[in-house]
Amino acid sequence: MRQAGRYLPEYRSLRAKAGSFLDLCFNPEFAAEATLQPIRRFGFDAAILFADILLVPYGLGQNLWFEEGEGPRLEPITDILGLEKLQPGKVLERVAPVFETVRRVRASLPKEMALIGFAGAPWTVATYMIAGRGTPDQAPAREAAYRDPSFFASLNALLVEATVGYLDAQIEAGAEIIQLFDTWAGSVPADLLEALVFQPTAQIVGALRERHPKVPLIGFPRNLGGRLHAYIASTGVSAVSVSSSDVNNALADLPAKVVVQGGLDPSDLVKGGAALENATRELLKAARGRPYIFNLGHGIVPQTPPENVARLVEIVRSASA
Ligand code: CP3
Repeated sequence: MRQAGRYLPEYRSLRAKAGSFLDLCFNPEFAAEATLQPIRRFGFDAAILFADILLVPYGLGQNLWFEEGEGPRLEPITDILGLEKLQPGKVLERVAPVFETVRRVRASLPKEMALIGFAGAPWTVATYMIAGRGTPDQAPAREAAYRDPSFFASLNALLVEATVGYLDAQIEAGAEIIQLFDTWAGSVPADLLEALVFQPTAQIVGALRERHPKVPLIGFPRNLGGRLHAYIASTGVSAVSVSSSDVNNALADLPAKVVVQGGLDPSDLVKGGAALENATRELLKAARGRPYIFNLGHGIVPQTPPENVARLVEIVRSASA
């Protein structure tokens, strides 16, 4: 999950120095620093590259900016003409600073600490490309998928190819684990899941496995509910990261050999105290008997007191010692 960000004073000052959020993402020295800040403070077992899932649309040539205090904005692409203006051949060149960040982070991390690279899954990235922003349920992309299936199929093919190249380059630069964020998987109607979520993810997993058979690929299909098992079977991911609404059923129902990650509600991290302690211990108890990677069910929110994160690390380490 996102572990860097505005809840850390040192991030806020780095962000102010960098200028815009995108300037921060594309400055390897600063982005490496943003990656390492939470590691230095909390000593997590793994670092996640500081970047954003929307760097792929940027790399394709779509205009992208971040509205202060609101979130990402893109010039919406809603038809095949919009796609034709993109330049898939330019992606790796346009996002090249990200690979330099990976190299720098890998060189500064202790050997035993893993570096996670990532990208958005095609569906989630498509929702932002089509709506031009985050919306409560990403309805514009869903409507586009029904209205114009051939546009959507072209967009998916484009995103699969760009994402494979982007992740392959991260691995070549030193990323040892890959996570695919499908934040909006839960908003896809059942009849479209196969085409919009499972297939494109399976294609990315298949292509990366062929090139890097040993790199674990974690999928995060947020709020997929009862379809998690089908997701794992169809996509072939090595592990599944789950949201706080999915975690209880996932830990109870998924076969014991399935590697599960995550699930702690980020709002428990805001509350701290007994609420945090109880939720954490319950999660660890429910995960007993299966391979489990402790993590949140979604990213750390800006109002989180950093000392609660430190306390969480203590609780988890003492429980699993
Ligand atoms: O901890 C890390 O360094 C991980 C880096 C990371 C970011 N975004 C940096 C970021 C990761 C893994 C992401 C993924 C991401 N980005 C997702 C998928 C996971 C999720 O959280 O659902 C999505 C949907 C995005 C798109 C995006 N980026 C949104 C919707 C926003 C605005 C939300 C907000 O909190 O402002 C961003 C901005 C963003 N990306 C921030 C960070 C640290 C916050 C901006 C800032 O702090 O300056």
